[in-house]
Amino acid sequence: MPGLTAYVGILDIGAMRPGEAVFVSAAAGAVGSLAGQIAKLRGASRVVGSAGSAAKVEYLTKLGYDAAFNYHDAPVRDQLKAAAPDGIDVYLDNVGGDHLEAALSRMRPFGRIALCGAISMYNAGRQAPGPANLPLAIGKQLTLRGYLVGSHEDRRPDFLAEMAQWLRAGRIRFDETVVDGIAHAPDAFLGLLRGDNTGKMLVRL
Ligand SMILES: NC(=O)c1ccc[n+]([C@@H]2O[C@H](COP(=O)([O-])OP(=O)(O)OC[C@H]3O[C@@H](n4cnc5c(N)ncnc54)[C@H](OP(=O)(O)O)[C@@H]3O)[C@@H](O)[C@H]2O)c1
Repeated sequence: MPGLTAYVGILDIGAMRPGEAVFVSAAAGAVGSLAGQIAKLRGASRVVGSAGSAAKVEYLTKLGYDAAFNYHDAPVRDQLKAAAPDGIDVYLDNVGGDHLEAALSRMRPFGRIALCGAISMYNAGRQAPGPANLPLAIGKQLTLRGYLVGSHEDRRPDFLAEMAQWLRAGRIRFDETVVDGIAHAPDAFLGLLRGDNTGKMLVRL
């Protein structure tokens, strides 16, 4: 499921073409870790990721991300500007909030933003205002499109065929964070919101 979400987000909703620059947030998670690798394998010129710790930033470089930053270190907009000085064409948004706002500022004309998730806003006490710089989408003629993976089952055969080739060839790395026992399922779920996981968070029964 996260793999198909990443595949559809980068290739269909983001409509990434070879030579384009890509930004992925929550990049060390289940969707994000695959999204960056898929973008590279499909010819992205530069892939930038953000994550919540130094260890995750290092992990992203092992996945082949060209640049990565810890969003706790400094404002996202400043770090994204440094990591993608020439701008970005596709943003896979898993986070919303400050990440979406920073991406809007860095998008190149006719860029595409795939709205996959907004995890920074799931527990917000009150509804946060939308990105203050949304009007940039007009002048830059951007596309912002939300999607649900369940509506893209038609792409599963293509995804499975391509991913199987990459896996066989050792070109994709995937990692899992495993929590033992159903009794710890709530901890695992809360852990997702705290960033305890690298790759897919799983509960082993
Ligand atoms: N549209 C769809 O069909 C679809 C399908 C699957 C998932 N999703 C969405 O895609 C996103 C990723 O899902 P996933 O299953 O791959 O989860 P995940 O990335 O494996 O886990 C969530 C990660 O989000 C990060 N995070 C938590 N709070 C954050 C905050 N306030 N700001 C920035 N990052 C934060 C944490 O990593 P850090 O340590 O980096 O903070 C955490 O590890 C979620 O928003 C999910 O709801 C959408």
